[in-house]
Amino acid sequence: MFLKTVNVKKHFGEVKAVDGVSLEIEKGEFVSIMGPSGSGKTTLLTLLGTLDSLTSGDIIIDYENLSSIKDVDTFRSKKMGFIFQFHNLIGYLTALENVELPLHGLMSIDKRKAKASELLDLVGLKDRMHHIPSQLSGGERQRVAIARALVNDPLLVLADEPTGELDSSTTQKIMDLMKKINQEKNITFLVVTHDPEVAKKTGKIIILRDGKISREELVKSASIEDIMTLKNSTLGQQLLQKESGDPYLEKLGLFKEKKLTREGELLLSLFEKVEEL
Ligand SMILES: Nc1ncnc2c1ncn2[C@@H]1O[C@H](COP(=O)(O)OP(=O)(O)OP(=O)(O)O)[C@@H](O)[C@H]1O
Ligand SMILES: [Mg+2]
Repeated sequence: MFLKTVNVKKHFGEVKAVDGVSLEIEKGEFVSIMGPSGSGKTTLLTLLGTLDSLTSGDIIIDYENLSSIKDVDTFRSKKMGFIFQFHNLIGYLTALENVELPLHGLMSIDKRKAKASELLDLVGLKDRMHHIPSQLSGGERQRVAIARALVNDPLLVLADEPTGELDSSTTQKIMDLMKKINQEKNITFLVVTHDPEVAKKTGKIIILRDGKISREELVKSASIEDIMTLKNSTLGQQLLQKESGDPYLEKLGLFKEKKLTREGELLLSLFEKVEEL
């Protein structure tokens, strides 16, 4: 398993912030973590990001147990990218300089700049590279933060409420962008969010409560959701009952003399298949 936690706990004195979390995530999955305030989402992300030590349990990332890694700083800087709610960009640096920052010491300045501008191009900010954060919109700043998280070619991106400060249409765009990157580069994404619309765009939702996983659910794709909606519509019900008196459905060729046609049967078989998924 690419990422695995086994009975992970993080206690701060009496506070059991994370209290026995076991989860498994495959490479390339896009997972969201939801749950009420104080349920341990940020703490869990911090542990996965090797930014804090565990009270007990095991974490395996990229098939390695974190407890057996000697240099976690190098491990983190090579394999992980981080995106936060308040983008954490440095105010006096340009977008380009912010994005190339994680590469300092790893390659020459020319290579760093080339890599950073490639990523800014990917997030659609080619013509904003020399702007500082205060000259950018909220969504643009968050896209710079995404570019920065990806500049070291991470295997795993950890995002803590990356769209928390954005309006709903910008949120959609940022989620679509992250999903595209997830699919094209096969990077594993873990996104903490309060927003059900954001969670719906991911493949799996993990719900935390009092430091424990209370539920895990798979998200069906939007196309499948659409077919389900059609199935539950009046049309869907008429097909299921194999009977219609609606002349328009006859005109569509789904029924003839109140009996299902071959086209009607095909649509009906689609409904049956979608039920099996
Ligand atoms: N450094 C710390 N010291 C003591 N308690 C902490 C510390 N960090 C977090 N906690 C506590 O651990 C619990 C979980 O906190 P965490 O930040 O993980 O919650 P969260 O799910 O991210 O909440 P939110 O949705 O509000 O961001 C909370 O009760 C919090 O007060
Ligand atoms: Mg939090």
